[in-house]
Amino acid sequence: MKILIFPDTEQAEAFVALEVAALVSKRPTAVLGLATGGTMERVYGRLVACALDQDIAFTQVRSFNLDEYWGVAPDHPASYTHYMNKRLFQPLDMHQALTQLPNGIAADADVEAARYEAAISAVGGIDLQLLGLGANGHIGFNEPTSSLGSRTRIKTLTQTTRNANRRYFDKAQDVPRFALTMGIATILEARAVLLLATGAAKSRAAAQMIEGPLSAFCPASALQLHPKATIVLDADAARELTLRDYFEEVHPHGARASVPPAHRT
Ligand code: GLP
Repeated sequence: MKILIFPDTEQAEAFVALEVAALVSKRPTAVLGLATGGTMERVYGRLVACALDQDIAFTQVRSFNLDEYWGVAPDHPASYTHYMNKRLFQPLDMHQALTQLPNGIAADADVEAARYEAAISAVGGIDLQLLGLGANGHIGFNEPTSSLGSRTRIKTLTQTTRNANRRYFDKAQDVPRFALTMGIATILEARAVLLLATGAAKSRAAAQMIEGPLSAFCPASALQLHPKATIVLDADAARELTLRDYFEEVHPHGARASVPPAHRT
């Protein structure tokens, strides 16, 4: 895992936005795995500004979102489809046919989950998967004890997660109890993953993800198995890391590592 700790939240968000912009600039037909949540709102704001400013075309980009609420229609204001349309797809003129989310109102959840997995495979897999981090260590909607071998499927949300998402719904009872989510194994198949966690509320989960045992109890710890996982934190999210000094020595202020030429001794 590459651990990048930025002194402030804005720099951490800007790094993630620029990584995505750089990939699409180099490969206009890239396949992106996308995340939602409050953390990504600001990243997408920066990405849109950067893409428009630097004339980076997203019109051929394909994307697959991690998850969608079960029972929530795409045009519902709290759906992840609505979130993505508003924050990324429409501002960047991305093609609807190339941007996919699980269908939260499909007739059959299992059939929809299998269709989603097949759709990802059909385009050759995901080049870069963006991830946020749940305060309980979830990625996508893979709640604690999700199998590390899981694929896209329907999951029951924990009360912690429902509380965290309460703000997007009018009434507490409107917060969905279920979601369709890529599985841990689906996420691990992406060729690269980039996780962003900011704020003190994520510090415990961040420490467990990076330094804790590999465990289904902290689903994000599965990223320890990924050969190309970059974890981007701000100072608050990094504050419970035991090896923080080491990570900051390798990547001061989130900078790329500089390896000096070898000296024979
Ligand atoms: C949500 C989403 C995740 C997101 C996480 C953190 O429940 N399903 O994809 O990364 O929780 O959200 P936030 O960035 O709002 O803290």
